[in-house]
Amino acid sequence: MWPANRLTERLNLKWPIVQAPMGTMTTPALAAAVSNAGGLGGLGMWGLSAEDAGRRIAGFRQLSGGGLNVNFPIWPEPVTTQDAVAAMQRHLQPHYDAKNLGRVPAPQGVASDVSDEHLAMLLEKKPEVVSFHFGLPRTEVVRAVKDAGIFIQSSATTAAEARRLEAEGVDAVIAQGTEAGGHRATFTDVAMSMQAGLFALLPQIVDAVSVPVIAAGGVSDGRTAAAAFMLGASAVQMGTAFLMCEEANVQPAHREALAQANESCTVVTDVISGRPARYIRNKLVDDLLSSGLKPLPIPKQLSLTRPLGASGDREMTALFAGQSAGMVRHRTAADLVEALAQDALQRLRSFN
Ligand SMILES: Cc1cc2nc3c(=O)[nH]c(=O)nc-3n(C[C@H](O)[C@H](O)[C@H](O)COP(=O)(O)O)c2cc1C
Repeated sequence: MWPANRLTERLNLKWPIVQAPMGTMTTPALAAAVSNAGGLGGLGMWGLSAEDAGRRIAGFRQLSGGGLNVNFPIWPEPVTTQDAVAAMQRHLQPHYDAKNLGRVPAPQGVASDVSDEHLAMLLEKKPEVVSFHFGLPRTEVVRAVKDAGIFIQSSATTAAEARRLEAEGVDAVIAQGTEAGGHRATFTDVAMSMQAGLFALLPQIVDAVSVPVIAAGGVSDGRTAAAAFMLGASAVQMGTAFLMCEEANVQPAHREALAQANESCTVVTDVISGRPARYIRNKLVDDLLSSGLKPLPIPKQLSLTRPLGASGDREMTALFAGQSAGMVRHRTAADLVEALAQDALQRLRSFN
């Protein structure tokens, strides 16, 4: 029960609260604030060289003696056709023109994986947790990281995915309900319309695996965290709630949109990045959806849409957010961890 369980004991956590590693929106200051408050701070490593990733971990270590979770999304080499690229460039050109951005460039981006250099860096820096999104990297990487005593976790959007992750060696599964902000972790091609919300997904994943399960998607306060524990979670992982904290690297237009969000303003779509993710709906989403064009595979699509938000235009920015964004209040990460932990504790005690 809240707060102590086999996961908190293994990871030496005061509170079973995990801050989602959200790419470069997560900063060493955010992760350190969460870990110093007794939760597990996380840093996204996508797109960083092994050297830069190592520097990011060192930045965290200067600010905290607590545990750290570093995260690598895994995707294959993005393969496109010239026709698909040309059609997307043609479609986006008027938006580039409106912002004086010149010609739409050639799409950029490669596979995302844990290279040998990244692996060597991980074995040297030894973060307490390494997590993955969209499945797992090659078996040798999983084995080497585990052999170094590092805890491994990855997200599942179905019970079948959770079973597969457990069979491949994860120490904990993150059950990602459809409420979640950011990219859908799905790695088995299950259609979005067939995926479950956390209330249905979590107990079924808890029943499907024997490793601890971390609940993600729509958890944002003591009530939702307590509910996740009632459904069998060993910890909660929050992304959207931490996005509004002052330590997060979130652009003003994005912060403003989060502050005005409600329960029905988000949509899951692959048109922004090339892979399904939940965003606050805006003109960029609507425009790409109505174009009927198939997006380029991640991260090539993102390389074309990202420049449109660089000037801070809310309508042209990728506004990642979960369905609980309307419940999120602006405060520091330490306040958020403490308030949520105490509130969940009170609520769960009232059931005794
Ligand atoms: C802006 C944003 C970026 C995210 N990026 C990642 C990521 O790089 N890796 C990852 O494992 N999860 C990522 N996630 C998903 C979270 O791990 C988690 O599933 C989700 O935030 C939980 O739902 P919530 O947003 O309702 O709290 C991201 C979430 C958000 C909101």
